Amino acid sequence: MWCLVLLLLGPQLHYGATCPYSCVCYIQGAVRCEGGITGVPAPMPLNTSLLQLNQTRIQKLSEGSFLGLPLMLRFSLSHSPLRVIHSNAFDPVPLLLSLKLTANELSNISSTVFSKLPNLQQLHLDKNRFSSIESDWFEVLPHLTELDVSKNFIAHLDKDVFYRLTNLRFLNLAGNLLRSLPQTLFSSLTRLQYLFLYNNQLESLDVEIFNNLVNLRELKLFTNRLSCIPARLFWPLSNLRVLSLSSNNFHVLPKETFYFMPKITKLSLFKNPLYLLPHHLSGYMPELKEFYLYDTNLNSVPGDLFANMTELIKLSLNYNPNLRHLPKDIFCCLPKLQRLSLQANDLEFLHPELFSRLTSLTTLILHSNKLYSLSTDIFQSLSKLSSIELHGNHFTSLPSRVVSNMAALKHVSLRGNPWNCNCTILDLAAWISQNLNLIGDHEHVLCHTPSYLRNSLLGSLTITSVQCSITVTESPGRTTEAATTSVKTTSTLPVEASYQATVPVTFQMTTSTTVPPSPTVSVTSTTTEDFTHQKTSAMDVFIFNKIVVLETKPEIVHSNRINGWVYLWTVPPAGTYSTFSVAFQVLLITAGIALIGALFYALYRLNGAMGDLATDKKTGGTSRKRNK
Ligand SMILES: *[C@@H]1O[C@H](CO)[C@@H](O)[C@H](O)[C@H]1NC(C)=O
Ligand SMILES: *[C@@H]1O[C@H](CO)[C@@H](O)[C@H](O)[C@H]1NC(C)=O
Ligand SMILES: *[C@@H]1O[C@H](CO)[C@@H](O)[C@H](O)[C@H]1NC(C)=O
Ligand SMILES: *[C@@H]1O[C@H](CO)[C@@H](O)[C@H](O)[C@H]1NC(C)=O
Ligand SMILES: *[C@@H]1O[C@H](CO)[C@@H](O)[C@H](O)[C@H]1NC(C)=O
Repeated sequence: MWCLVLLLLGPQLHYGATCPYSCVCYIQGAVRCEGGITGVPAPMPLNTSLLQLNQTRIQKLSEGSFLGLPLMLRFSLSHSPLRVIHSNAFDPVPLLLSLKLTANELSNISSTVFSKLPNLQQLHLDKNRFSSIESDWFEVLPHLTELDVSKNFIAHLDKDVFYRLTNLRFLNLAGNLLRSLPQTLFSSLTRLQYLFLYNNQLESLDVEIFNNLVNLRELKLFTNRLSCIPARLFWPLSNLRVLSLSSNNFHVLPKETFYFMPKITKLSLFKNPLYLLPHHLSGYMPELKEFYLYDTNLNSVPGDLFANMTELIKLSLNYNPNLRHLPKDIFCCLPKLQRLSLQANDLEFLHPELFSRLTSLTTLILHSNKLYSLSTDIFQSLSKLSSIELHGNHFTSLPSRVVSNMAALKHVSLRGNPWNCNCTILDLAAWISQNLNLIGDHEHVLCHTPSYLRNSLLGSLTITSVQCSITVTESPGRTTEAATTSVKTTSTLPVEASYQATVPVTFQMTTSTTVPPSPTVSVTSTTTEDFTHQKTSAMDVFIFNKIVVLETKPEIVHSNRINGWVYLWTVPPAGTYSTFSVAFQVLLITAGIALIGALFYALYRLNGAMGDLATDKKTGGTSRKRNK
């Protein structure tokens, strides 16, 4: 029974007597070896088709290394100190399709080393120490489709080095020391699809260098020293999907640089000291999904920059520390745009209609600019917008309408703005306190001015009485109506900062112990004690100041300050019901006072009547007697 199970589990591995020590042999003909071996282990299973040696101590592949492996198709020796390959080392393995010699110490190979490998399709010589590659190596490799010589020390390439590689699809020259490329280097590579030239020191490119690369799909030129390219450089690349020019030294780009790229899907220009982009930079790009233009010196961008990028989904126009202005129509034609990054620019003002046509937008990143205000309707047509980052700007106030009424909204950030906590902000403060789940950073959204409110939480402000007379704020989210009467604070002392009632439906009398203004935190410590009074010593002047702030959350709070006494009382929250219940309470209290008055009056009258009665008693007998 157990044998059966083992047999069923076993077929992956082949532990035959022929599998060498330090190797694992798989039944499909694959062998993997690792460890301290100093040569290709032998004997190997006769039908080995794939041999992978990794992290070995092999320094040399000699004439006899591959004897007994006539069926080998793929060989790789990596992360080893390999330095020497005998010129006939590969003669016994003529069927080899793939040869990977990655991460060794090769600096020189015989020109005939690959000459007996007519079937070779894949050759990786990356991460070695080659300072040059020779055309002789590739003389007889007509089927080579993939050549990787990246991460070597190649500073120079002969113009005909790749001349015979007419079937090449993938060429990786990245991570070398190339400063320039011969004009005809790629001229026979008409089937090339991927060309990686990044991490070199290229300073210029000849106008005809890409002329025959009509099948090229990806061209990666990032991290070079390109400062100037001919306008027509990329025009032959009509099948290009990905073009990366980031981390170069471009100050300007010629007009029409990105014309004739109907298939491009991703274009990267970031990390260039660009200060000027021309009008008519991009031709029709009906497939472009991502465009990256960040970390530049641009101080403005042409209004038609994105006009031909109608299918764009993701746009990064951020970290441009000089970019102060965006043309009104710049986002005119991006109906599919979902993510727009505009953070860390120098933006001060956004046109009210700037975003109006971005109907698919879900994420808008505007943090770390110098914005000080936003038009109330600026996000109005963005019905899918779910995330807005506004932190780190210069906002002192914002109408809550900018962000309220957005059905899809899930995230807003507001911290790091110099919020001015005066009456005007109560509207936003109320919206925050009602939508804490949307404001990820609400615990860091703090007042900046006035100084005695500095670092108070905006979301906890429920009464702000400075310069704020009678303010009636109805349930936030709905229309806000501030009715301010002319009863102004004459006191030099700022009164209570914030007060949150804790005991609903109780009649509370609250004394506010007022301390002279200090430049830092809130000056007022409000103590709440039911039915207790404490006279404030600092208040000798007669002050009559009345604030009524109605909110649905947490409670309706009323305050009344007469003679330096502050009375606060609360009633339970609710929309229109609150107004009614306030009126009702006021009615009750008035009625109470009237009743007390009436009682006193009644007592007074009773007392008088009793006095009369007493006098009447004394004199009454006589008079009655008299009357009788
Ligand atoms: C390779 O040879 C082993 C025996 O040495 C055999 O079990 C296995 O099936 C063979 N594999 C192939 C792909 O021929
Ligand atoms: C070879 O070893 C290196 C670590 O030195 C490892 O990163 C790599 O994935 C290994 N390659 C293979 C094919 O196992
Ligand atoms: C490279 O090999 C050739 C001959 O195979 C030899 O003449 C030359 O000196 C070698 N160069 C280095 C740097 O080893
Ligand atoms: C858009 O592309 C077309 C066709 O390539 C071109 O004629 C036009 O000038 C381009 N528009 C802009 C604003 O670059
Ligand atoms: C409150 O502050 C804002 C921003 O500083 C200001 O625009 C507004 O006029 C102020 N409102 C009042 C009532 O002082």
